[in-house]
Amino acid sequence: MAPAPQFRVAELFAGVGGFRLGLKKAGWTVVWSNQWEPSTKAQHASDCYVEHFGEDRHVCDDIAKVVQGPQSESILDHELLVGGFPCQDYSVAKPLAQAAGIQGKKGVLWWSIYDMLALKRPPFVLLENVDRLLKSPATQRGRDFAIILSCLAQLGYVAEWRVVNAADYGFPQRRRRVFLYAHRLDHCGYQWKPMTRLYVDGVMAKALPVSKAGIKSVLEAEAALPQEPDIELDANPYVVSETFGIGLKTSPFANAGVMIEGRVWTRVVTPIYRGKKQTLGDVVGRTEHVPESYFVSGDRVDTWAYQKGPKSEPRIDKKTGHEYFYSEGGMAFPDPLDRPARTILTGEGGTSASRFKHIIADPKTGRLRRLIPEELEELNGFPRGWTDTGMSDGRRAFMMGNALVVGVVERIGRAIKKEAEACLLQKATDNAREAATDT
Ligand SMILES: C[S@@+](CC[C@H](N)C(=O)[O-])C[C@H]1O[C@@H](n2cnc3c(N)ncnc32)[C@H](O)[C@@H]1O
Repeated sequence: MAPAPQFRVAELFAGVGGFRLGLKKAGWTVVWSNQWEPSTKAQHASDCYVEHFGEDRHVCDDIAKVVQGPQSESILDHELLVGGFPCQDYSVAKPLAQAAGIQGKKGVLWWSIYDMLALKRPPFVLLENVDRLLKSPATQRGRDFAIILSCLAQLGYVAEWRVVNAADYGFPQRRRRVFLYAHRLDHCGYQWKPMTRLYVDGVMAKALPVSKAGIKSVLEAEAALPQEPDIELDANPYVVSETFGIGLKTSPFANAGVMIEGRVWTRVVTPIYRGKKQTLGDVVGRTEHVPESYFVSGDRVDTWAYQKGPKSEPRIDKKTGHEYFYSEGGMAFPDPLDRPARTILTGEGGTSASRFKHIIADPKTGRLRRLIPEELEELNGFPRGWTDTGMSDGRRAFMMGNALVVGVVERIGRAIKKEAEACLLQKATDNAREAATDT
């Protein structure tokens, strides 16, 4: 009898477990995880993760050390590798004549993902990052993303990506992130047609549908004849690193795209969603108790109003002593309750006045106040109280600024699982056919 299909996940940069929560709902099981915060001695995120999921097969150490050292033996096999990693400089160092493989800057976490893929060869990969990744760096627009795609091609993966604003699919926060899905080419073959994949049957198109208005002829053309790519990446990531994007003012990567063997097709797509749209007001309306420290006292209202308001004023650069003119537009104060929240940033916590923190008029009392940690958790789709595991409120807010919208991961996780099941079915059919021809 064929062994039961497995849907095992390894979770990198696990934070407080946003991927794990979403993937569990989608039918996946995390069998190995890694989380380590380099900037603090205390490991609050890892502690929170362990409190909820247990410490079995959870490693709290620098991933660069883990994948390259003896601890890599503890990494269980998995079908899906996931991780939300920081946007850094991914440039590739000049290869030494004898050096095997490629080498990135030390401490740059993409290279640990690369090592992990080379080591474990999972058939499916799902990565998350800020959408700036598609554009960076300013001197070579799109270079960093091009390096990642060319590395994936070199490792034998096809890939698709999408910039997702969670609020476009009904979630109560406007959080824009790029999700990059990759599929090992030799796992069950591929018949990806780029435009069909982008608009109709890709993991992203299935999980997060987009408008197909005006693309009928594109799909028909593609069905008849393979379409030329928009970009062809050099097969060597070092060459991509040295040459991609030089002289470009804008990135060639749009909000959706497909990469097959280094050839890239990319389009601007428009989300469609007809379900309920949740708002900030829905979330804060469920709060029963707000500690007094979250309310803005009367004498502080002007300071907050100044931070949020429009500015046009001379300022002095503290370092150089030069005077310059500073201007910025105003923003809603307080934040509207009938819309999704703005993006939660890592600096959301603490009492100091800031332009970027949310301030609402409390629906029960009308008094101005900040959001409590439980509301930040719910805006990301975590259960209320998730980060109440022994860290300060400021740290709890920081964790939510780092985390992701669980429901978006759940949607993508379900679509990947369907693709994984289809692959297994195809493999079983191929094996049966082979067995029949052998006899
Ligand atoms: C963007 S956050 C991911 C948050 C996560 N998806 C969640 O839902 O909470 C990136 C995480 O990578 C962790 N990290 C940074 N450097 C690391 C390293 N060298 N090894 C392992 N983890 C690291 C950070 O502590 C942070 O929690």
